Amino acid sequence: MKATVEAPANIAFIKYWGARDLDAAVPLNASVSMTLDRCRARTTVEHLPDGAEDRVELATAAGELAAAPPGFAEPVRRHLERLRRWAGVGGAFRVATRNNFPTGAGIASSAAGFAALAAAVAACLERRPEAAELSRLARLGGSGSAARSVLGGFVRWPRDDDDADGPAVQLAPAEHWPLCDLIAVVESGAKEVSSREGHRLAPTSPYFAARLAALPERRRGVEEAIRERDLERLGPLVEEEAIDLHLIAMSSRPPIFYWQPGTLEVLAAVRELRASATPAWVTMDAGANVHVVCEPADEQTVAAALAALPAVASVLRDRVGAGPRRSEEHLF
Ligand code: DP6
Repeated sequence: MKATVEAPANIAFIKYWGARDLDAAVPLNASVSMTLDRCRARTTVEHLPDGAEDRVELATAAGELAAAPPGFAEPVRRHLERLRRWAGVGGAFRVATRNNFPTGAGIASSAAGFAALAAAVAACLERRPEAAELSRLARLGGSGSAARSVLGGFVRWPRDDDDADGPAVQLAPAEHWPLCDLIAVVESGAKEVSSREGHRLAPTSPYFAARLAALPERRRGVEEAIRERDLERLGPLVEEEAIDLHLIAMSSRPPIFYWQPGTLEVLAAVRELRASATPAWVTMDAGANVHVVCEPADEQTVAAALAALPAVASVLRDRVGAGPRRSEEHLF
């Protein structure tokens, strides 16, 4: 059996930063995100009941396949082992995957990748796990944000405050509020410091305890703003949260700097847009690229302003999306 799943990246409005258990991706705080529509990982999985070894390949845009480098293949193999245990099957898997957006640059590529992998393995074994189960399976690959990518629309993870180990839950479907996420790419290479290292170092920041104390109220504000579709309320909270994440990174010991000069250029341009009455706000994950959140009516104006900046190599125009889907366009 062979199955292909396309799973989306997501952009966090309240960030997962700091883990109770790094290997199992059990977070120290609850996060809230918007699932994207166009930035996706496509993954094809085939189960080879008598196969000897798992095979992990990367597909190019032209459809060619090449063995994935060890740094990519190893976490995938470890996750396949867990998925085999979950499914109670032996044999081997052949896996091929491709992202349609820059990898490792703050566009949640591993979230999309691990969500697609878990869903494609389940599909090729003809299992139909509930969303909560799939959320847990996606996360156990080590990318916590993958827990959120199995659901569409607006998502919180973990679902319950008293269950850090729990699954993600959908707060509202994509149709609830058609927000745009315009990603200003100022750096398309992979980041130098992984999120994993960022999570590990986060508690060494002298400001980390203050961040954790401020988060419940900020998160409540974000969830209310989503419920009420109130961008004037959501925007400032999302910006404050992104700057907080980077403050923690920059004040960790040793410090981590994800920003590039282009990052600051985009931040200034978005402030200018607001000064000229275009409502748009920024957020950034663990990378230099900037996600600019706005309503569809302002998408054109914001995209044009971002594209005009010398530091911006390209603008990926995305918006809230519906979550993973099966595809018949197999990669092999
Ligand atoms: C800053 O451990 O899920 O994006 O495996 O790199 O996707 P990756 O990271 P993960 O941490 C995510 C960190 C973040 C914030 C977030 O998405 O919540």
